[in-house]
Amino acid sequence: MPDTLKIGFTSYDRLRGVLVTFCAEGLKFGPATQKALAPIGDLYRRAATADRFTGKSGSALDIVAPSGLNVSRLIVVGTGKERDLKDRDLVRLGGVAMGKIPASAAQATIFAEFGSGALKGDQIAALALGARLRAYRFDLYKTKRKDNDERPSKVDVNFACANPAAAEKAWTTGSAVAEGVVWARDLVNEPANILYPGEFARRAAGLRKLGITVEVLDVSAMRKLGMNALLGVGQGSAHEPKLVIMRWNGGKRGADPIAFIGKGVCFDSGGISIKPAANMEDMKGDMAGAACVVGLMHALAARKAKVNVVGAIGLVENMPDGKAQRPGDIVTSMSGQTIEIINTDAEGRLVLADVLYYVNKRFKPKFMIDLATLTGAIIVALGQEHAGLFSNDDKLVERLTKAGEATGELVWRMPLAAEYDKIIDSKFADMKNSGGRFGGSITAAQFLQRFVGKTPWAHLDIAGTALGSPQTDVNKSWSSGWGVRLLDRLVEDYYER
Ligand code: BES
Ligand code: MN
Ligand code: ZN
Repeated sequence: MPDTLKIGFTSYDRLRGVLVTFCAEGLKFGPATQKALAPIGDLYRRAATADRFTGKSGSALDIVAPSGLNVSRLIVVGTGKERDLKDRDLVRLGGVAMGKIPASAAQATIFAEFGSGALKGDQIAALALGARLRAYRFDLYKTKRKDNDERPSKVDVNFACANPAAAEKAWTTGSAVAEGVVWARDLVNEPANILYPGEFARRAAGLRKLGITVEVLDVSAMRKLGMNALLGVGQGSAHEPKLVIMRWNGGKRGADPIAFIGKGVCFDSGGISIKPAANMEDMKGDMAGAACVVGLMHALAARKAKVNVVGAIGLVENMPDGKAQRPGDIVTSMSGQTIEIINTDAEGRLVLADVLYYVNKRFKPKFMIDLATLTGAIIVALGQEHAGLFSNDDKLVERLTKAGEATGELVWRMPLAAEYDKIIDSKFADMKNSGGRFGGSITAAQFLQRFVGKTPWAHLDIAGTALGSPQTDVNKSWSSGWGVRLLDRLVEDYYER
């Protein structure tokens, strides 16, 4: 499958290169598809019989050089039963279609009609989103290719549709989201020697091109604000921490914003409570929450979302050093609450504590959602299929759950309660930064809750969903870019419709 992809929209009669069509279970083709395939007679039926292809969802039939049609290949992708196909199914089918296009192809046409008939503009944009995400590759640091690898090729993929203009219009929104996901994936895949806090902040500042206001706070600014919880995490690193505040004001002037906060630990060695060596390289991705916030800001600004949004990311590197924070240290957070450091590897919550408090105080948001690769325990609890959702607001939970089901970026609510909260009380300070192994994701969330006041808030623990992602029809990358689509949908559903 090709590396670089150019997406376009065309009419039903312009079929070039590899042709991909869809059919429903029972080899049911739409009327325009039937017309387009008429020149090959019963070839696809015979091929389907030979291959036992019936159009089951996600399955495919591949016919090379079908005589009668001026295309190099005909691929039929099954859509299964087409009744109540969700948006996420369309995205997945776009991914399946893209995955079937061979790497050698320079041109492909995806015939955007299902067995049940023509697709609307936004449905075609959903297919295109899936195609874009499937084609994603991170090979920036590959200088050689293996002998049997295809040379990197560019491919033009055109969606043939009844109304190309409508699809094109829907894609201005869809591509904004796609590029947001791609950006998030790229940031997470970058190694920590390249993407340290200063460099991350510089890249985030690139959002200015889209009309986003970007402020970068350095160590002295954060010291003045009293952000000692965040600063303590970074003090063992040669790279100074940064706090990046991004603002997009597409909504009513002066209306309270909504806020997204990301954990941006560019590398998490564990610090003095150092992690074991096995898989420590994955901790270059401990900034996936921050990457998602940047990708989301891109998506919202690029599609000119009618909403006021604040994005805030706390960027640090957690390293062992003579200057590093120690277990037993006590720090005073910006909120004034004191924290005893039990384990320097429970660093994400320390970063988020100050960023959550700051954002809440300065912007008085309608709600705040933080994203963080916060605990290994959430991977044990939920695996890689759901992110852990913790919240003080049932309505926000409902909205996130619904957006999750629409996009396939699923969330699962976990409990918060006073009984868990008391576990992080400290002998020496107001609280300690680790409650131990039992309920590790919950006590981490309880910690965060101590910094959000009464503001509606949700915490998404994305340690399982953002990194080392299972290979799916829409992602072959180590990093999934998880959360960009979910939160873009949340904003769209409730603040724009
Ligand atoms: N970044 C890790 C959590 C993590 C683990 C993310 C695996 C992705 C994959 C976090 O900072 C951490 O180290 N958490 C500790 C907390 C403990 C020390 C209380 C953990 O989960 O073990
Ligand atoms: Mn850690
Ligand atoms: Zn971490």
